[in-house]
Amino acid sequence: MNLLICFGTRPEAIKMAPICMELNKRKIPFKLCVTGQHKEMLQQVLDFFDLIPDYDLNVMLPNQSLNTLSSRILVEMDKVFEKEHFDLVLVHGDTTTSTLVALAAFHRHCKVAHIEAGLRTYNKQSPFPEELNRQLTARISDFHFAPTQKAKNNLLKESVNESSVIVTGNTVIDALHITINKIENGYSNAFIENLNETINFNKRVILVTGHRRESFGSGFKNVCEAILEISKKHDVEIVYPVHLNPNVQNVVYKRLAGKDNIHLITPLDYPSFIWLMNKAVLIISDSGGIQEEAPSLNIPVLVTRETTEREEGVTSGCSILVGINVNKIIHEANRILTADKVNDKMTNPYGDGIAAIKIVDFIQNNILIND
Ligand code: UD1
Ligand code: UDP
Repeated sequence: MNLLICFGTRPEAIKMAPICMELNKRKIPFKLCVTGQHKEMLQQVLDFFDLIPDYDLNVMLPNQSLNTLSSRILVEMDKVFEKEHFDLVLVHGDTTTSTLVALAAFHRHCKVAHIEAGLRTYNKQSPFPEELNRQLTARISDFHFAPTQKAKNNLLKESVNESSVIVTGNTVIDALHITINKIENGYSNAFIENLNETINFNKRVILVTGHRRESFGSGFKNVCEAILEISKKHDVEIVYPVHLNPNVQNVVYKRLAGKDNIHLITPLDYPSFIWLMNKAVLIISDSGGIQEEAPSLNIPVLVTRETTEREEGVTSGCSILVGINVNKIIHEANRILTADKVNDKMTNPYGDGIAAIKIVDFIQNNILIND
């Protein structure tokens, strides 16, 4: 059985790293292919987790369209399948890489296992194009590793065969535990040292991120307006590692640069981001991964999206869906920043840090054994 792991963006790499580590631990051979949909932001993760790709398709072009990206992935993946035979490919989540790699594998009669399967909003425009990517990847996949029971239920409603759906928790929690453990054991790096020098940690820290395509334009402008207002009203430090997508960079730097208590910085590498997150009192973000990580660190997240496929976080009280509504963002931030009581420690609905073990157990006992 020839196994291929394939991913292309920062969050996929973070969430696939624990699986690669578990396979290595059990000496199960596999090849690693990165599409390079992301470049710098992907390399940061590969470096931290010591992952060395066997194939790098290097498909990133500045600000390329989804169709160009998709076609480049299909063509380059075909060359990989031409060169080497694979029986099973593991893809992750909802990116263009996941769906196009799954399709390329299907065309080559290679089975597909989908990690982080079953997340749904059932709104094709939100998140765009991720919701459709997830649904397409589910149709192609032979095995579905669902992070939660809710995700499994979504797949069953779509008539996916129950025996092919395995609830595992989300591997992002495994990655978080690995990283926090390193930090607690003294890990540091240049990013962390720089943050220590430039941010006044005697003040409360608000962490901001954003990158969703459906918010390009007016959505990002609204979020910036709200952040500006919060920065004037409260004695806080706002730290915003700005995503490298030019559609994000242009708006954010134009509206928020040069303000005393707003720090616009380059994307942080994963361990320094977790280090900083751990110091924040509030996060304002549209990120999927951050909605999953935050409950472990007990930090409320204002989710700047109209919908979320991560409703478990909303139900547990960690995530608050504020959309891209300026007043709502300001109101919820005020409420949290003026509350006397911090949230009670919550259990993380997305897992307990052993998702990769469960995934590799299943692959070893049910897929490799039948080979
Ligand atoms: C992608 C995924 C999204 C995921 C996000 C995680 C798709 C359609 N989108 O969005 O689902 O949540 O990654 O961050 O799959 N760029 C760089 N360097 C990098 C990365 C990006 O310069 O390391 C710039 C390039 O100009 C690139 C652009 O950002 O063309 C957009 O990258 P792309 O992967 O298409 O979209 P993201 O917004 O990053
Ligand atoms: N992250 C990071 N550096 C940053 C911002 C985020 O390492 O500057 C991590 C974060 O901890 C999470 C993941 O990147 O694990 C989320 O990525 P992103 O928000 O880009 O994508 P999404 O999760 O929305 O697909």
